[in-house]
Amino acid sequence: MNIPSASCDIQNVPNHVAVIMDGNGRWAKKLGLPRVAGHKKGVDTITSLLPICRKRKIPYLTLFAFSSENWRRPPAEVNLLIELLSSTLESEMRRLDENGIRLRVIGDVTQFPKRLQSRIRQACELTVDNDVLNLTIAINYGGQWDITQACKAIVEGMKAGQIENQEITPSLISSFLSTKDLPEPDLFIRTGGEKRISNFLLWQLAYTELYFTDTYWPDFDETCFDETLTEFAGRQRRFGKTGDQIVKFK
Ligand code: IPE
Ligand code: IPE
Ligand code: MG
Repeated sequence: MNIPSASCDIQNVPNHVAVIMDGNGRWAKKLGLPRVAGHKKGVDTITSLLPICRKRKIPYLTLFAFSSENWRRPPAEVNLLIELLSSTLESEMRRLDENGIRLRVIGDVTQFPKRLQSRIRQACELTVDNDVLNLTIAINYGGQWDITQACKAIVEGMKAGQIENQEITPSLISSFLSTKDLPEPDLFIRTGGEKRISNFLLWQLAYTELYFTDTYWPDFDETCFDETLTEFAGRQRRFGKTGDQIVKFK
């Protein structure tokens, strides 16, 4: 992982970028390759993106790598994705640490093989003190699952007398989500042409700027990312206010 030192003139970069990395399979098909080739190339895109985030001073990056619905794929592909995740964690863990990247994993990891679960724990513990870039990987993640597990935990807290009914607010609910340590995403990117959220961060994307591109994830390079950042920089985030209010009080 080479960290380029060149400065960059894109203003107003997002604090937190969340990505649905889609199009690996179609990228491979286009080239007459097996789907796995697309997934492997997709991992290369991730490793190239990390130094770019550092260069652009984006402190939070969250990537959707395996959804709670992806178990519906043919078992051979599911196994392959799990194996790829496991081998990538093993080969990249030290490099993440050396580059000051903190790894977090969100999603119901209990459904994965024990070996992968312990590798995840190891990688997260190894990088826990890093703060240059917060990389979060969502695996066996679903926004509905996240909200459901938060509801269950809140109900348990109420039963134990630790939470009162009037204390249940949006910020309390946020504090029970798997993303409790992360700020809300500012920019959501979906590659691969589909225009849907596919059960990603349903609660957390409430006021996120959405960006969809036809580019397949394995082809999503620095130029594509810069185009996205430039478009984001030009958007006016109003959060319910009028445009005049935003200009006036900026
Ligand atoms: C995204 O690429 C990767 C995962 C969902 C794991 P896809 O595998 O969905 O690629 P397409 O959509 O079939 O092209
Ligand atoms: C979303 O991609 C999940 C990930 C990128 C991990 P999918 O390719 O699974 O999404 P759908 O099923 O086409 O909406
Ligand atoms: Mg897809």
